[in-house]
Amino acid sequence: MIEAIKHRRSIRKFENKPIEDEKLNKILEAARLAPSGNNRQPWFFIIVNDDIVKQEIAVATSNQMWLSLAPVVIVAVADLVARGESFAGMYIDEDSGLSDVKSIIRDTTIPITQILLEVDNQGLGACWCGAFKQKDIRPVLGIPGDKYVLAVIPVGYPAEQPNAKPRKAIEEIVRYERW
Ligand SMILES: Cc1cc2nc3c(=O)[nH]c(=O)nc-3n(C[C@H](O)[C@H](O)[C@H](O)COP(=O)(O)O)c2cc1C
Repeated sequence: MIEAIKHRRSIRKFENKPIEDEKLNKILEAARLAPSGNNRQPWFFIIVNDDIVKQEIAVATSNQMWLSLAPVVIVAVADLVARGESFAGMYIDEDSGLSDVKSIIRDTTIPITQILLEVDNQGLGACWCGAFKQKDIRPVLGIPGDKYVLAVIPVGYPAEQPNAKPRKAIEEIVRYERW
């Protein structure tokens, strides 16, 4: 597993080549099996193939047009309603302080990570893109206000082989026994 984790990179250039359904299904299976608080699985994944919609997503994601050149874009969405039907119809965004909003965001980062790893395992590349506002990205895909978009993930065959980005040393990030 550590070798697989080390091998993954953010990929931002893709070959003009479709992804096999079998590979996409394995990637989605990796997402489906993710753990979550109380096993609520508060997530949805929108698979976008349409070129025009991919371009609209790229514009909403801080004009990162490169991502529209991926054959598939997966949009990961956290669902507040998974925390209770009383949340249906509520509007949440970056300013929402509800603990339940924090929970659905926490949980939905997990399948996204598993997607990134399975993408790499399938010989594909992807990048987690998070530079958007809810108000911009939601209308592109008709996502209701009680859902929170966590990631736009372009996926395709990599057309670049970036070096590993630096990481902090273990001594910088680990403390033993207490803070
Ligand atoms: C929450 C999140 C948001 C990100 N948003 C973007 C983005 O909008 N555009 C982009 O090019 N990369 C984005 N990245 C990718 C990071 O820049 C990348 O993961 C980091 O530089 C480490 O490189 P690596 O993924 O190759 O290890 C994002 C990553 C995360 C986890």
